[in-house]
Amino acid sequence: MSTTMQQAVLRAPLDHTPQAGDFALVETARPECPEGGVLVRLSHVSMDPYVGARLRGRHMGEAAPEPLREAIPGHGVGAVEESRCAIPEGAMVHMMGAGWRDYAPALEGDVRVIAPGALSASVFLSALGMPGLTAWAGMTQLAKVTDGDVVLIDAAAGAVGGAAGQIARARGAAKVIGIAGGAEKSALVRESYGFDACIDYRAEGWRDALAEAAAGGISVHFENVSSEILTLALTHMKPYGRAVLCGLAAHYHSDAPAPGIPFGLIIGKRASLHGLVVYDFYDRWDEFLAECQPLAEAGRLVIAEDIADGLAEAPAVFERLMAGRNRGKALIAL
Ligand SMILES: NC(=O)c1ccc[n+]([C@@H]2O[C@H](COP(=O)([O-])OP(=O)(O)OC[C@H]3O[C@@H](n4cnc5c(N)ncnc54)[C@H](OP(=O)(O)O)[C@@H]3O)[C@@H](O)[C@H]2O)c1
Repeated sequence: MSTTMQQAVLRAPLDHTPQAGDFALVETARPECPEGGVLVRLSHVSMDPYVGARLRGRHMGEAAPEPLREAIPGHGVGAVEESRCAIPEGAMVHMMGAGWRDYAPALEGDVRVIAPGALSASVFLSALGMPGLTAWAGMTQLAKVTDGDVVLIDAAAGAVGGAAGQIARARGAAKVIGIAGGAEKSALVRESYGFDACIDYRAEGWRDALAEAAAGGISVHFENVSSEILTLALTHMKPYGRAVLCGLAAHYHSDAPAPGIPFGLIIGKRASLHGLVVYDFYDRWDEFLAECQPLAEAGRLVIAEDIADGLAEAPAVFERLMAGRNRGKALIAL
C-alpha cells in the first residue's frame, strides 16, 4: 500500500477572494491511524462558502491553513480503512476535520458513523450534512415553521436554501418562495426542490414578481445573501413575522461593511430576527437526522450536486462557488 497521498494546499497566504490559481496539489505522507481513532479513506469532501473567508483568516477566529503544508479545510465522508478504536474497519463515517486530501485521521469522538443505505454518501455533506443541519436549525428551532406559514428563502438553489425550503414544506408551510440568481437556478428550485415559486433576481421586473408571489405577506424569511434582500423581505413581512439571518454571501469578500437594516421596519412589523450559527446545533445531529434522513430517503429532500471529479478539478469548482456560480452543493469526489 502506498505511504503517500495527495492533498490540496494554498500556494501562499491569501489577501483576496480565492481563485483557482491560488491552490496547488502536493504529494505528502499518508497520515497514521491515531491510537483511539481511525484513518478514513475519503470518498467525498465538501466545499463551503465559509472556507473562502477561513482561507483569509476571517472566519470565527479560526486560523488559515499554512500554505504548502496544511490541507484546505472541509468536511468529508468516507470508509474507515484502519481502526484503533471501537469503530469497525469498513464503516462509513462523516467527519468535520477531513480536508481536501485522500486520507484523514480522526479520534473516535470526532467522527459520526453514518448509514447511507440507498443514498449516496455525498448526501451526508449536503442535505444531511452541515448545510442541512443549518437549514433544519433555522426552520425548526429558530423560525419554528408550522402549518400555514408563508416562507421566503434566498440563495434557494444552494444546499442551505434548497434544504430550508423542503424542510419548511415538510413542517407544513402553506407556501415556499425562493429567490435565486438566473433562470437555470430558478428552474432547479421550482422543479427539483418543489418550491411554489422562485424569483430570478437577475431578471427585469423581479421586485414586482416578488411582490406578486408574496401578496398577502410572508411570515418567515431565511436570509443567506445580503442585508439589502433582508430589508426587502421585511417590507413583505406580515406582523410578528420571523426572520433568520444565516449568511451574507454577497458581502464575504468585500472590505466595506454590509449596509444596515432599518430598525424602524423591524419595529413596524413587530418582527423578530434570529442570528444563526450552526455550531450551536452540532449536538443535535441525531435529532436532525431522525427527521431529515427519512425525507431524503423518500425523495422529499434533494439537493443538486456540483461535483469536482478529483482534487485536480477542485480549485475551478471552488472559484465558481466563490462567485456564486455553483449549482447546488459544491463537492469533491475522490
Ligand atoms: N450561519 C451558519 O452557521 C451557516 C452555516 C452554513 C452556511 N451558512 C451560509 O448559508 C449561505 C448558503 O450556503 P450554501 O452552502 O448553501 O451556499 P450556496 O447557496 O451554494 O452559495 C451562496 C450563494 O449566495 C449567492 N450570492 C449572491 N451574491 C453572491 C456573491 N457576491 N458571491 C457569492 N455568492 C453570492 C449565490 O446564489 P444566487 O446566485 O442564487 O444569488 C450563491 O450561490 C451562505 O451565506 C453561507 O455562508 C451559514
